[in-house]
Amino acid sequence: MNVRVFASEPEAAAACAALVAAAIREKPSLVLGLPTGRTPLNVYRELVALHQRGQVDFSRVTTFNLDEFLGLAPDDPSSYRAYMERHFFQHINLAPERIHFFDGSAERAERECVRYDLKLLEAGGLDLLLLGIGPNGHVAFIEPGDSLQAGSHRARLSRESRLAVASLFGDDVWKVPLAALTLGMAGMLQARRVILLAFGVSKAAAVTAMLRGPITPMCPASFLQLHGNVEVWLDAESGRGVDGSR
Ligand code: PGA
Repeated sequence: MNVRVFASEPEAAAACAALVAAAIREKPSLVLGLPTGRTPLNVYRELVALHQRGQVDFSRVTTFNLDEFLGLAPDDPSSYRAYMERHFFQHINLAPERIHFFDGSAERAERECVRYDLKLLEAGGLDLLLLGIGPNGHVAFIEPGDSLQAGSHRARLSRESRLAVASLFGDDVWKVPLAALTLGMAGMLQARRVILLAFGVSKAAAVTAMLRGPITPMCPASFLQLHGNVEVWLDAESGRGVDGSR
């Protein structure tokens, strides 16, 4: 994996937004995998600014968000769908029919995962996948465990992950759903290009385990070592266990 350590998080976010915009200019029908959480917020802000300056046109882009809380309807203000509307979708010109998301309120989780995977297959897989990483080494909501699932699936959320997203639920961890729907590892490894962003000291151990540790379901991000086109973009804090030369 190629590692790049940036002077600051805003610098990395601006470079990431510029890369996404360039990829869209090169292929206007780009299929983009999108994360939520704190990490990509500045990337979305930068992309909105580029769009407002007329430098990127999303009208033919297709997006797949990577995960959603189980039990939340898309219009629930705590849902990831609502997060994406707030921070990105409502500010740009994506065609609504090309926005793909898990419906957290679907009655049958398994069927919803099959529907999502079929849509991804129809779209030809992801051209460019943006990822964050959890302090526990999760990617999307593929949580550490004894094994991983290839396809999209229902994931039981770890206590750590639920604590990390409590701010979306009024800082009340008891309100955070116990499970989520998530893209599986196969969908990630089939993406043609992956940019993983990690900022801050809380990510340093997970970043080191991902890059230098064994490939293990106890650190789902470590499976990205099997991918031929992954870039890991860090700031000094998240990269402090990494020499940056590999
Ligand atoms: P964060 O979450 O961006 O809010 O740190 C990243 C993740 O858990 O994947």
